[in-house]
Amino acid sequence: MPEYKLNINGKEERVVVEAGTPLLWVLRDELGLTGTKYACGKGLCGSCTVLIDGESDRSCSIPVETVGNRKITTIEGFAGDKNHPIFKKWIEHEVSQCGYCQPGQILTVASLLNRPEKPSYTEMETALTGVLCRCGTYPRI
Ligand code: FES
Ligand code: FES
Repeated sequence: MPEYKLNINGKEERVVVEAGTPLLWVLRDELGLTGTKYACGKGLCGSCTVLIDGESDRSCSIPVETVGNRKITTIEGFAGDKNHPIFKKWIEHEVSQCGYCQPGQILTVASLLNRPEKPSYTEMETALTGVLCRCGTYPRI
C-alpha cells in the first residue's frame, strides 16, 4: 500500500492506506482523530466537515491521494484555541445538545469567517442548514 504524507493540525503525519481511502477514515482510524464524525458517508450531511486550507469540506468524500500538502484542520486542531470567539459564542448561547453535528457546525462557521468578505445572513443560513442537526440546534446557532 502507498504511504501518504499529510499536514494535519499543523503536524506532518504519514499514513499507509489503500488509494481511494476517504480522508475521514484516515483521520478516525489511522490517526485517532474521532472528533470528525461519520454519518451519511455520502457528502450529504456535513458531520465529517474539516477545514482544508481554511475552507470547509466533507472528509468522507475526499480520497486521501487528492489531499497533497494542503493544510487539514480538524476540530481537535481548531479546539486548541479555547478563547476563539466561536467557542465563546457557542457556550454563551448553549448551542450543543448531543454534540454529534457540532464539529461540522463549528468548522463551517470558521470557514465562513475565514473569508475576506463578511458573509451575508443568507450565506450563513445556507451553509449551516447544509450541516444536519438531528437535535435541532439551528435557532441557537
Ligand atoms: S458523513 Fe460526510 S457528509 Fe455525511
Ligand atoms: S446537537 Fe445533536 S445532532 Fe446536532
